[in-house]
Amino acid sequence: MGFFSNIFKRKERLLEPADLSMLKTDFHSHLIPGIDDGAQTLEEAILLIEGLKELGYQKIITTPHCMSDFYKNTPEIIISGLTKVKEELQRRGIDISIEASAEYYLDDDFERKIDEGEIITFGDNYILFELPFLAEPPNFNQVVFKLQSMGYRPILAHPERYGFYYNQFETYQDFVDRGIYLQVNMMSLMGHYSPETQKIAEKLIERGLITFIGSDLHNERQLPILKHALQMPSLHKLLDSGKLKNAEL
Ligand SMILES: [Fe+2]
Repeated sequence: MGFFSNIFKRKERLLEPADLSMLKTDFHSHLIPGIDDGAQTLEEAILLIEGLKELGYQKIITTPHCMSDFYKNTPEIIISGLTKVKEELQRRGIDISIEASAEYYLDDDFERKIDEGEIITFGDNYILFELPFLAEPPNFNQVVFKLQSMGYRPILAHPERYGFYYNQFETYQDFVDRGIYLQVNMMSLMGHYSPETQKIAEKLIERGLITFIGSDLHNERQLPILKHALQMPSLHKLLDSGKLKNAEL
């Protein structure tokens, strides 16, 4: 059901598919085979990469989950997986630039990873992190402060997906004022996660609070959803806002 039913409910006017080549880089995806809940095989990873290329991206910075309990991924695990993906792309003659970073879950172990330098940044010292979906972790401010005082530039993944911030636009504004970059998921614009998520994503765009957009691509089923998102007025608005920094990565 999902996204199509939401579109019909809201009678959204669809536009010509947007050209994503101006964005150049997608930096939120799960494409290293078998190390998180994204691509499980090399074959699947290649298919997803080809899908992103078809959307217009020229560069991918893939970001496997790093958590203390479920996905205990280290820089070594990630880089060795990336090497396999790169070799396969080369073998098949698929021309796309690909790097890896991570999507860090803000748990206690994240602080240890920061302290011990066990993290992979991307671009100009950016680091992508996500929160639990139930509540803001008690060490949120401490971690952000630590990251920033060490020269890292934190990007909060999909702020529109955390129910505990809903309609607290002063909180989102405060994040931006404090130098926390906000990254919206392209599929949120389609109502893929929930109608509420879509509404919050649209409001964040309207208020000019979004600096990055990411695919958060996990599997093949999501490719047509991303393709459909290219026609959403909210995506066009975001691309026209001049605020997106994806191309700098
Ligand atoms: Fe993700």
